[in-house]
Amino acid sequence: MCGIVGYIGEKEAYPIILNGLKRLEYRGYDSAGIALFDGKNINLCKTKGKVVDLEKKFSDKQSNKGSLGIGHTRWATHGIPNDVNSHPHLSNSGDLVIIHNGIIENYASIKKELLNRGYTFTSDTDTEVLVNLIEDVKKKENVKLGKAVQIALNQVVGAYAIALFDKTKPDEIVVAKLGSPLAIGIGEEEFFIASDASPFIEFTNNAIYLEDEEMAIVRKGRAIEVRKIKDDSVVAPYIQELKLNLEQIEKGGFDHFMLKEIYEQPTVIKDTYRGRLLPTKGIIKLGGLENYIEKFTNADRIIIVACGTSWHAGLVAEYIFEDLARIPVEVEYASEFRYRNPIITEKDVVIAISQSGETADTLAAIKLAKEKGAFVYGICNVVGSTISRETHSGTYTHAGPEIGVASTKAFTTQITVLTMIALKLAKIKGSISNAHYMLLLQELEMIPSKVQEALETDSKIKEIASIFKDVSNFLYLGRGYNFPVALEGALKLKEISYIHAEGYPAAEMKHGPIALIDEQMPVVVIAVNSNHYDKVVSNIQEIKSRKGKIIAVVTEGDTTVKEMADYIMEVPNTPEVLTPLVTTIPLQLLSYHIAVMLEKNVDQPRNLAKSVTVE
Ligand code: F6R
Repeated sequence: MCGIVGYIGEKEAYPIILNGLKRLEYRGYDSAGIALFDGKNINLCKTKGKVVDLEKKFSDKQSNKGSLGIGHTRWATHGIPNDVNSHPHLSNSGDLVIIHNGIIENYASIKKELLNRGYTFTSDTDTEVLVNLIEDVKKKENVKLGKAVQIALNQVVGAYAIALFDKTKPDEIVVAKLGSPLAIGIGEEEFFIASDASPFIEFTNNAIYLEDEEMAIVRKGRAIEVRKIKDDSVVAPYIQELKLNLEQIEKGGFDHFMLKEIYEQPTVIKDTYRGRLLPTKGIIKLGGLENYIEKFTNADRIIIVACGTSWHAGLVAEYIFEDLARIPVEVEYASEFRYRNPIITEKDVVIAISQSGETADTLAAIKLAKEKGAFVYGICNVVGSTISRETHSGTYTHAGPEIGVASTKAFTTQITVLTMIALKLAKIKGSISNAHYMLLLQELEMIPSKVQEALETDSKIKEIASIFKDVSNFLYLGRGYNFPVALEGALKLKEISYIHAEGYPAAEMKHGPIALIDEQMPVVVIAVNSNHYDKVVSNIQEIKSRKGKIIAVVTEGDTTVKEMADYIMEVPNTPEVLTPLVTTIPLQLLSYHIAVMLEKNVDQPRNLAKSVTVE
């Protein structure tokens, strides 16, 4: 949570930082601020609200000159979103200015000590405590900024990606990282700092991703200096060449990133299996898996840890792995797993699923599993992310940057990877017949065109959205492979439209939720061709008898459900194991259109952030 940006070089820093913050707004958007060094002073402007509010405030009030600066877009943890709590924060002397993404857990005791020593605080934030701790160390120990940062951070418990500078020595920015991401873009005689590479992609393709417990000092026109925070040892930085391009992080003619990302799914599912799925040869090649096949085939069980939408992908995987590869699977919320003293042994394989690769709970679950000796496999979208580095091995989804806060293409590409893993293991274990295996490989290859077909029903889904946009509650039902899709459909609706929605296994409805059904209640039922089709039809009858409104996701050509449902959303026929990849599409579109019609901020829903780096 929170996005940070910094610049030091010859260019004007303000437009670089402002643009960068706009690109990082997915990380938090309740307040924003920028500090520029204008040659003499720190020019600080911050406000509650979005980056556009900051832009307005800056242009109304003050000059934006200077070629050194830092900026921040916030997702509040300590202190409500207001102007004062917004970053950057100044030290008591006014010399140091800092931005911070993360949480300083022992800030209260440090603050008490600093108060006793005469420091004062204007905000409720842990960050203001940190900048004053650094200032205090700098004065007491009579050391340079870099050294003061290092000493101070050794007293801190928590997570951080920080950037700060000193107006009395305005030729350097000091940055440090533990648990929150920090990328440094290397230009000609200039450096860019950001939570990810998107703010500087048009300026340089060369970047360093700091590792946990590392800090760096960047100086205009000089080589970067990277050190370990613990022992001050020098680290040789690894400079990566970035594959990202500007087009990938722009809306490309769509009204919202979410819609663009929904429409990208045919392409990115293909990108995810390209070179890995070879149906004519009957081969699945997954680089990260090849050397660890036995870990999986000998495992007592697979434990999947994830949060939110990624957890739903994990639930789909539970069905696929058990069905095809006959390996027992448990799916856990990472946040529960990490705190419930789980039984994990060296014979367990843990799969961690995360779009961002930075989710704090998933990361903590991985660390715990590793400590207990399990083999940990990551499925991440963001290349070089912390989770992708912390796991023993893994497979990237190739969804490209997902900027809309509501996850869409990450979900379908995660399921694509998980399906490939399950199929490969099933083949090796002999738990699938050759004919079935070959068929599923061919069918998986056809999924992008089926997703494309599902997208083409968009205008019909928009009409359905207009009918139901004003209701207060929705129920989503599915069985088997499509139970997790029901959960995901409900999550999409609630997070962007703020309409209450619940997902349930269709048969479980009669054990409680059926009491909610009346003529006001729309029930979205996933009723595609499957082993449970007849059972789902019976569930639909139960809803109809209680006057509920049925919106059914059906297979093209279906007649039975079509006659019973009030509205239908059609998807192409596909083998049951692959249905989540197509049934998800109309549900994403339904929630998108409802949210747009309700004039909600689709890409930046309230209270949420894309990357949840706090627990
Ligand atoms: C929902 C959503 C969240 C994320 C969750 C995990 O649309 O985006 O529920 O799925 O925060 O994030 P990652 O996958 O980055 O670990």
